[in-house]
Amino acid sequence: MMDEAVLARVRERLRGATSVCAFTGAGMSAESGIATFRDALTGLWARFDPAQLASEEGFRDDPARAWAWYAERRAGVRAAEPNAGHHALAAFARRHPGRLTVVSQNVDDLHQRAGNTDTVRLHGDMLADRWLQRCPRAQACDPADAAPGTPPRCAECGNLVRPGVVWFGEVLPGAAFDAAERAVRGCGVLLVVGTSGAVWPAAGLVSLARMAGAHVVIVNPQPSEIDDEADELVAGTAAEVLPALLDTL
Ligand code: APR
Repeated sequence: MMDEAVLARVRERLRGATSVCAFTGAGMSAESGIATFRDALTGLWARFDPAQLASEEGFRDDPARAWAWYAERRAGVRAAEPNAGHHALAAFARRHPGRLTVVSQNVDDLHQRAGNTDTVRLHGDMLADRWLQRCPRAQACDPADAAPGTPPRCAECGNLVRPGVVWFGEVLPGAAFDAAERAVRGCGVLLVVGTSGAVWPAAGLVSLARMAGAHVVIVNPQPSEIDDEADELVAGTAAEVLPALLDTL
């Protein structure tokens, strides 16, 4: 049961904030049926070794296995629907143009399908294809034209297609991280929704926001590794809490 007093305090803060940032993780999509990474019982990593599936080394080691895992996850994302939490954020953005920035660690497209099409993608887009190697041609080939396979590959040079996500050990896209830093530094309220705070540098955005004066609100049914950065902890799920916080604003 959500604590109504906490919700009322956070709504009051949101009313007074000219700029709001929502920083989301896998828990944001959990109620859409997409498994999180670290939840003990359901988390994907509980069944897989991350290094084997979400790293360049793991992909090169067994491209077919990694590609099959991503194909399964892609099918899950395509079959999923944005949940009430995604819709609450998108509706708030429609009612208050320019006031909300969504920064997500998620590689699904649920924020975008709900309407937050300008979501900052810190860890890339799992539904996008890219080449494993840089294409040697002056006019790079399009991965969409790759020959079918698991994974698809360039019929000319054998280059493999990989998903457009940031793998363990890879740097985050500079433009996205810069946009995320600007958003968290400039917001009056940072809503941190559905993240364990276990993965850096993304998790560091929360302390950056706090140092810049943002009021930090963590929405999570469980404790997270960044709870000590929070001004308010709202114990609840994205699909329950976000409508309760945003729908009347
Ligand atoms: N609503 C809100 N939070 C939820 C819900 C829900 N319905 N269900 C689970 N959670 C919380 C869990 O309590 C947990 O704290 O979501 C969090 C999910 O944590 P992780 O699985 O670690 O996902 P995330 O924090 O997004 O991981 C960060 O790690 O593996 C990399 O690139 C991957 O982007 C990912 C990054």
